[in-house]
Order: sequence, then C-alpha cells, then structure tokens
Amino acid sequence: MKILAIESSCDETAAAVVEDGRTVLSSVVASQVEEHRLYGGVVPEIASRRHAEAITPVVRQALSDANLSLCDIEAIAVTYAPGLIGALLVGVNFAKGLSLSTGLPLVPTHHLRSHIASNYISNKELKPPFLCLVVSGGHSHIVMVEDYTKMKIIGQTRDDAAGEAFDKAARTMGMPYPGGIELDKVAENGNPKAFKLPRPTVHDAPYDFSFSGLKTAVINLIHNASQKGEELNKADVCASFRYAVVDCLTTNFLKAAQDLNVKQLVIAGGVSANSLLRSTLSEECKKRGLRFYMPDKSLCGDNAAMVGAQGYYEYLSGNTAKSNLNAYATMSIEI
Ligand code: KG4
Ligand code: ZN
Repeated sequence: MKILAIESSCDETAAAVVEDGRTVLSSVVASQVEEHRLYGGVVPEIASRRHAEAITPVVRQALSDANLSLCDIEAIAVTYAPGLIGALLVGVNFAKGLSLSTGLPLVPTHHLRSHIASNYISNKELKPPFLCLVVSGGHSHIVMVEDYTKMKIIGQTRDDAAGEAFDKAARTMGMPYPGGIELDKVAENGNPKAFKLPRPTVHDAPYDFSFSGLKTAVINLIHNASQKGEELNKADVCASFRYAVVDCLTTNFLKAAQDLNVKQLVIAGGVSANSLLRSTLSEECKKRGLRFYMPDKSLCGDNAAMVGAQGYYEYLSGNTAKSNLNAYATMSIEI
C-alpha cells in the first residue's frame, strides 16, 4: 500500500511516499531553519507562511521522485498533532483538500508516534512490543509501545525537553539555533568529567525527567566564568553537559526496561541523533543482553517518511478522518 505523507508541525515542510509502512519511495524535506536562526528559535507566524509557500512544490517533488502520480496513491497521512497550530493547519488543510478531490482516505497521524515509526523504516525486523525513549525539541517521554497504535507513557519530563535543554545550553555558548547538533559535535573533543553538573531526579517518579535545573546549572557556570573574566574550555563544558543529559536519559530508561522486564529498547526523535546517547545505549543494551534499535541519523529529525510509516499502521487500525479533521497543538501519544 502506497501512502503519501505530509508533515508541517514545526519548521520543516515535508512530504514522502512510503510503501507498506517500511519502504521509502521518496522523501522531501524543505527546512526553514536558516530563517528562524536569525531569531534564535522558531517564529510560529513565519513558520506557517513558509509552509503555505512550500507545501505544493514539496508534495509534487515527493510524487515525482517516486515516479508516481496521485492515481498510484492509496491513502494520505498527515501530522495533525502536536506542534505549532498554524504550522499544522497548513499540512492538515492541504491533505484534506487532496483527500476531498481524489477520494483517497485521510489518515491523521500523531507526530511523536511518527518519530517512533522512523524505526520501522531503519529496522525492518522491529515489531512491538518495545520500550521507546522519545526525545525531541518539545518532548522527552519513555513510552511502552504495546502495539503499533497502542502506547502507554511510563515517564516524561516535568519541565524542559532534552532537545530544548541542549539548544538553550548551546545558545548560551553562542552556537546558532538549533544548537543541540553543534554542541554534540564540539563535545567530542572535550572531557565529560571536567565539570560536575547535577543529575536531577523527580521524587517518587523514577522514570520522569527534569532538565531545567541542569540547564540552569550549566548557564550559571558559563555566566559566572564570564563575569570573572575566566575562559572556560568550551569542549569540556559541552562534553560535561552532554554527559549529564545522556546520563539522566539512559539511567531512567534502563531502569524502566528492567522494572517492566522489556527486552527490546528503541530511541526516537531529534535528540536520538546524539552520538553519546546512541553509543551509551548500544553498549549498555549489549551488556544486558537487550536488543537495541535506533533510526538512521537521516530519519531522526522531522520528516514525512516517518509519517508514512506510522500512517500505514494507523490506517490498518481503522484510524481515518473525515473532512472536518482539525489540528491540535497538544495531544497525548496515548490517544
Ligand atoms: O524531533 P525534532 O527534529 O523536532 C521536534 O519534534 O521537536 O527535534 C529537534 C531537537 C532540537 O532540539 C535539536 O537541537 C535536537 O533535536 N538535536 C540534537 C541533536 N540533533 C538534533 N540534540 C542533541 N544532539 C544531537 N546530535
Ligand atoms: Zn519532531
């Protein structure tokens, strides 16, 4: 079954054609990041306008890259939540128009479920049940994926998301938005034990995360040094911060896996591209005899191929929408 998928939840306008949830026939991503970088973060109003401009050519490109026309497509999947509301509405309304004019079924797809589904493309043998650490710019969840469309939140952040903490720490060090990627690169040349940073935990909630204290600790470290006119080794700060975030993420994730007796572990979302997170979990899972899966780095960030993958399973479960489909800025992954 060939699905045309559309993604516009944040600052990438994306379209893809995916076959049977696992094979990518085309994937086009038009990023707006250069423009948002001028403001140090995503400006929602600008994002919506750029999606409106990009969506038609991006969808056309995805069809032509796959050597297909709309007649070959069997369903249209679209991200409808969570995300920037104005941005989501562009994709949702475009998909609704296309569904109305072609008569193709419309499949509303949850953005975080799609991030998880990027793993079905990269790891053909992967099937639920598994435990997934979903870490993006807006969310940090530990999710029990009981089936393709049945999920339970085991833990989540109480304040900042991991990606947000990475971006804010990077910004304090003068790195351009989104700084998480550059911070990860600079950290490769630093000493992760150079600076002692806290490992915040949440009382009585061993699987929940809290990153705001850690973020403040690194910002204070940088500001205090600059007030004293001291020069900190940037690579050491990046390495110490990355180590602290990855330590918090992996400790809770591995504890949840052990307590729930889950043998398959998966990571997803923009932060799953982080080199230390990938290598630490690969090693820890190997030591514990657990199977570990991650998406290709090219599928960690926002894209529509993952929407086509999840959309396939949503369609099989009967999750289709009518032309009154709306977009939602927030929505639990469990719904
Ligand atoms: O999933 P995503 O592309 O967008 C959302 O749905 O939020 O995640 C973007 C986030 C940003 O905060 C970005 O800095 C972070 O993922 N990120 C990374 C890395 N690559 C992207 N954070 C740490 N290390 C990386 N290598
Ligand atoms: Zn995302």
